[in-house]
Amino acid sequence: MVDSSKIAALSKVAKQMVAPGKGILAADESMKTVGKRFASIELENNEDNRRAFREMLLTVPGESEYISGVILHDETIRQTMANGKTFVAALQEAGILPGIKVDLGLVDVGAEKLTTGLEGLDARLKEYVALGATFCKWRSVITIGEGMPSEENIRQNAKDLAAYALVCQENGLVPMVEPEVLLDGTHTQEQAETASTRILTALFEELRAAGVALEGMILKTSMVLPGKDSGVKASPAEVAAATLRVFKKCLPAELAGEAFLSGGQGDVEATQNLNAIDQDKDLGWPLTFSYARALQDAATKTWMGRSENLAAAQKVFLHRAKMNSLASLGQYSSELELDVVAGASEVATATQD
Ligand code: G3H
Repeated sequence: MVDSSKIAALSKVAKQMVAPGKGILAADESMKTVGKRFASIELENNEDNRRAFREMLLTVPGESEYISGVILHDETIRQTMANGKTFVAALQEAGILPGIKVDLGLVDVGAEKLTTGLEGLDARLKEYVALGATFCKWRSVITIGEGMPSEENIRQNAKDLAAYALVCQENGLVPMVEPEVLLDGTHTQEQAETASTRILTALFEELRAAGVALEGMILKTSMVLPGKDSGVKASPAEVAAATLRVFKKCLPAELAGEAFLSGGQGDVEATQNLNAIDQDKDLGWPLTFSYARALQDAATKTWMGRSENLAAAQKVFLHRAKMNSLASLGQYSSELELDVVAGASEVATATQD
């Protein structure tokens, strides 16, 4: 059970993360995943280029109007920028909360996956607190397929997420709890809805059993979508209806908020779907975005690793952040895309590690 004196502070940070019109940038890709992003712009994957890439994304003038927090990678939270300032200091000065991804990646268990990183977590979190982190992310991955997700996989991922969340809260850090349902596969939207319901039911059972303070955590899920290879595309209204049916069944009233991952949706598609979800004004929880690809892809393709493209790339990033901010308020419309010349790409990129 988390010390009650800590819960008020956790709840304050969690509320700040999902404040009206704000979302969270995920910039915590593993080196391998950054390598995939860089391959698409023919840029070498080395420390300097990763620093320049993160600097492009994290120093956008006006970013804090739409972005409440950034999830950093272990490398970035220790890095300094070209001007000698740490990324953490730059975010703090901009009024953006620094967060950190703390899981250590996935392992295969048959055809399914579990997430590693519980061992030694407490000590790592203490170091991240000293480095200035205020919230954390742990991603588990659930696959839909023949006989999947299995009960064992759902339960073990739920237990691990709950154990992680508790250690975070004991260290004064807000956990983002992410059970990602992969978009990969041929499953129907109905199968995704059933799987999401099973996953979230088990997750909240385990979070409660572990004594996690739900008002001091943020849930991070996929939207309920048909599989990428199903041959079916759900409309924003269908995505919203299925996602909200699951949430109304499974999410407790005390939960501080939910921030969606984009999961391989095109960037405009992710904005349209969020906007459709946020048409419902009678929900108990703020529902916002915590995208990586759907916020970064268009900016990355404009940047191309060249300093002369920095200002244009940051403009593209700010535009996507603004579009998603409006969507999180249910105030987006596609005409607003015309605001920026180098608009958003509809290219969906491969799953991250
Ligand atoms: O863990 C997943 C990331 O934080 C979100 O990435 O929006 O590219 O799916 P994505």
